[in-house]
Amino acid sequence: MSVSVVLGDITVSHVDAIVNAANCSLLGGSGVDGAIHRAAGPELLRACQALGGCETGQAKITPAFALPCRYVIHTPGPIWRGGGHNEAALLASCYRSCLSLALEYGCRSVDFPSISTGVYGFPLPQAAHIALRELVAFDRTHEGMVLRMVCHTQEALRAYQVDWNMFYQETKPHEE
Ligand code: APR
Repeated sequence: MSVSVVLGDITVSHVDAIVNAANCSLLGGSGVDGAIHRAAGPELLRACQALGGCETGQAKITPAFALPCRYVIHTPGPIWRGGGHNEAALLASCYRSCLSLALEYGCRSVDFPSISTGVYGFPLPQAAHIALRELVAFDRTHEGMVLRMVCHTQEALRAYQVDWNMFYQETKPHEE
């Protein structure tokens, strides 16, 4: 199993691609989006400006510029509106869209933040379940990928670990 859950800062990940929890404009913001843009430098914004935005649940890719990874995959997650507006399907689509772009660009190692669980208010337990379900399903059908959920807070780490232990307990996630 090459899916793991770690605590850390995705902007220092030395992987092929990191995923950015963006908004539909792709023009930066706060949270992990702001951190990624700050670390990547102004060229990232220029590259994003050329993309013409992105729909919720879809994903677009740029170089990573000053970041230590090769690519940034930008995906706008759903804003939580109580659960009755297709949020779960859209969040699942974020992970699937990022994974298919990663494949297309030959990325073997991909780090994900906990999409939509900050500013967008998606409840952590449900988001963790969706994220791990998608990563584990992909991992089972694709050899050689190294996929990590990079949690930035203890609260997020706990939510992912609880879900992991509940549903994937045969393989403990490696904790760095
Ligand atoms: N590394 C990893 N994860 C991080 C980092 C970091 N450096 N900084 C924040 N996070 C985590 C947050 O703790 C949260 O768990 O990323 C997760 C997603 O939170 P947000 O960044 O707020 O993203 P989201 O909830 O998807 O909201 C997106 O916020 O920043 C704006 O432009 C963005 O409008 C968009 C919205």
